[in-house]
Amino acid sequence: MKIAVIGTGYVGLVTGVALSEIGHVVTCIDVDPSKVERLSKGIPTIYEPGLEELIKKNIGSGNLRFTSEHQKGLPDAEVVYIAVGTPQRADGAANLDYVEQAALDIAANIKRDIIVVIKSTVPVGTNFHIRNLINQHTMNSVRVKIASNPEFLREGSAVEDTFHGDRIVIGAEDAETGEILAQINKPFNTPIVKTDISSAEMIKYSSNAFLATKISFINEIANLCESMGANVEEVAKGMGLDHRIGPDFLKAGIGYGGSCFPKDTNALVQLAGNANHEFNLLKSVIEVNNNQQVLLLHKILSRFGDDIQGKRVAVLGLAFKPNTDDLRESPALVIIPKLVELGANVIAYDPIAVNNAKKQLGTEIGYTEDFTEALKNADFTVIITDWSEVKKANLSIYSQLMKEPIVFDGRNCYDLNEVKKATIEYYSIGRPDQAPELIG
Ligand code: UDX
Repeated sequence: MKIAVIGTGYVGLVTGVALSEIGHVVTCIDVDPSKVERLSKGIPTIYEPGLEELIKKNIGSGNLRFTSEHQKGLPDAEVVYIAVGTPQRADGAANLDYVEQAALDIAANIKRDIIVVIKSTVPVGTNFHIRNLINQHTMNSVRVKIASNPEFLREGSAVEDTFHGDRIVIGAEDAETGEILAQINKPFNTPIVKTDISSAEMIKYSSNAFLATKISFINEIANLCESMGANVEEVAKGMGLDHRIGPDFLKAGIGYGGSCFPKDTNALVQLAGNANHEFNLLKSVIEVNNNQQVLLLHKILSRFGDDIQGKRVAVLGLAFKPNTDDLRESPALVIIPKLVELGANVIAYDPIAVNNAKKQLGTEIGYTEDFTEALKNADFTVIITDWSEVKKANLSIYSQLMKEPIVFDGRNCYDLNEVKKATIEYYSIGRPDQAPELIG
């Protein structure tokens, strides 16, 4: 199949590259010429394990190319994927400006009947709106069919998820369109769920809302565990063995971030509101997450009697999760400005997100890609991201390098038995605090 993909963000780039890898001839279109220039040379614009090799391989085989000009990518395509961003508007709803622009670009450039596939996460009803928009603006008698094919990949394992996903959801406006898309996706060898368009759109929002709910649920349980003297990890283990609950997404911490959960949960609340449905459960999930992101700050202030003026603070991790340089909705963006406001001197460590962080957190704090550099002479440490470098650290490093080995761990990186052996004062989420003087 000749395929065009509009948008080379996380979803668009990985989709385009994966479709070329399974044998389709793919043109990825992005309005940013500098991105196109880099990608055409085989240099990825995002950090994603395995992606660079696939880009280079498929450019080499002639299956993959990049352009910033719609008139070069669209006229030949039999199927066009829209994979542009749907950022959050101030009122929480999804902003469809980029999707609508992509629709107008398609209408202006296609010369035959095609299938348009929406990959972007869009509110229920958007697929039909976009189909109508394109059909209103096409020249001649060209008509498009529409299909919803939501994406479930995770950042940091996007390539792996694309080739080994749990399911591919295809919501098509008729059986023939659904079947063409099923054939396009067949080489992925992944179970295909064929459904109607509105249900496909809903599956994406419901999946993300459910996963966010699992996280907020376990975080509430964690907070309760702290008051009850229980250990949330034991609780999650015991719950997760029930196959109806499952062990995944029960890791307590300082809340979910990233480009999807915060945006999609807010959008679903909005969507429900538009249909006169108060989605109170999801509103609580969002509220719990907002509170969770500042939880460490409360622990820090209560430990230091509300005064951290002039203290040197090592912040470990800036990205919203490990294996990505993405800071979107990271708890770091909430916690670090507060620490600075309270007069702390922050030195932040991240192995790959420092450049992105500088753009958002500015020069008021120090940065390092060396974990030990951050710890030197620190009054206390705050762990925000569970990077493997942090998780596998020998705990003696904290007492060796810090002024005082006081650690606030927002990701429960360390085994409490190991912490007990080390002479560190340790606060984590939903587990008993560990202070050297209290032990033995
Ligand atoms: C998510 C969905 O997993 C994916 O299917 C969807 O397409 C996009 O959104 P992603 O944002 O890349 O993917 O990250 P994910 O690995 O799901 O983690 C999201 C956030 O939840 C992270 O901040 C992570 O730290 C947090 N999380 C995850 C927890 O706090 N506890 C958990 O048990 C799992």
